[in-house]
Amino acid sequence: MPNTKLRLAKRAEQISPFHVMDILAQAKQLEAQGRQIIHLEVGEPDFSTPQPIIDAGVAALHAGKTHYTPALGLPELRQAIADWYLQTYQVAIPVNRIIITPGASGGLLLLMGALLESGGNILLADPGYPCNRHFARFVEGRAKMIAVSESNGYQLTAADIERHWDEHTDMALLASPSNPTGSILSRLQLSTLSAAIQEKQGVLAVDEIYHGLTYDDVDMTTALAVDPHAFVLNSFSKYFGMTGWRLGWLVVPEAYTSVMDKLAQNLFLAAPTVSQYAALAAFETSTLAILEQRRCVFEQRRNTLLSALQSLGFDIKATPQGAFYIYADCQHFLNEQVPDSMALSQYWLNEAGVAVTPGDDFGVHGAQHHIRFAYTQDETKLLEAVARIAQLY
Ligand SMILES: Cc1ncc(COP(=O)(O)O)c(C=O)c1O
Repeated sequence: MPNTKLRLAKRAEQISPFHVMDILAQAKQLEAQGRQIIHLEVGEPDFSTPQPIIDAGVAALHAGKTHYTPALGLPELRQAIADWYLQTYQVAIPVNRIIITPGASGGLLLLMGALLESGGNILLADPGYPCNRHFARFVEGRAKMIAVSESNGYQLTAADIERHWDEHTDMALLASPSNPTGSILSRLQLSTLSAAIQEKQGVLAVDEIYHGLTYDDVDMTTALAVDPHAFVLNSFSKYFGMTGWRLGWLVVPEAYTSVMDKLAQNLFLAAPTVSQYAALAAFETSTLAILEQRRCVFEQRRNTLLSALQSLGFDIKATPQGAFYIYADCQHFLNEQVPDSMALSQYWLNEAGVAVTPGDDFGVHGAQHHIRFAYTQDETKLLEAVARIAQLY
């Protein structure tokens, strides 16, 4: 008899899949049966990559740009990102602090691989981006999930740092704007957190992947403007509409560049070359004009979906000011047959053909009575989704 038992390392066993993937798989099955599903579960822009970026990518392929780049990335792209920080935030970042990665995901791997000791703690907000705790597990670190709520703007505070930091803590990772709540950190919040973490001689890392997608004229600051020792993750995936190109970047204090270089060489050699050449066009005026138009569309969608959900009885405790998500308390819709957000998302998928993400994907705090809606569909579809849900009640 062949031995069919998988010989998995504990780390692989202990990393859980996303519930949203089950929802997506079921949605695809229903679609195969002819049902029309409205997808509000997927965390990527519905817009395709702006044309100037596509053209630059195609031109790079024709020009034979198919070889590895240096592990730290294409020098011209690193320079373009440095220029971007100067232009957007008036912050001068030396090019050798910028490392090009395969998506922000590649940056998270470098960050935690380099800074999180095995057995060391990383402080994370709950709810928060699910992969963070899984990356921590992958490098044998421990994710300490700290409950956040509307009372603290769904972000960690200096008091949280004070309360949860211990001798085994290496770092705190925040996100602004955050996934799933769309909440942002002000300049004051960032500097207060930075001071609290520096006091502990720890590391502050901020995931700024949704920068650019902010609304209500909110004044966005990069953590790099308030803390020269901060580590910052970013990506071409969301604002620049390049999810499938797998390209991001990580900004590190200068002293860490060589260790990141060493890890990048070993873990992935380099980010995709064609994507790096394509991304050079991301900062051109014509591309930025397209992106600004899209940002306005997202803001309009947020307004529409927010008021439609509120009219339906959703309790949305803080208006999300960034990203493309609404994290809604769905308590009002729970009952004996549909006791939690997981059951609710199944019910909506099957009965209304609307796919959303249950709170369980983002942590445990309040997860069973929260749902994430991604407004990555046009307004007509968003309103139709809400109308379909309304018909169930
Ligand atoms: C907060 C956050 N960080 C990082 C990522 C990873 O993005 P990527 O690897 O596509 O850049 C995502 C993707 O959804 C995200 O929401």
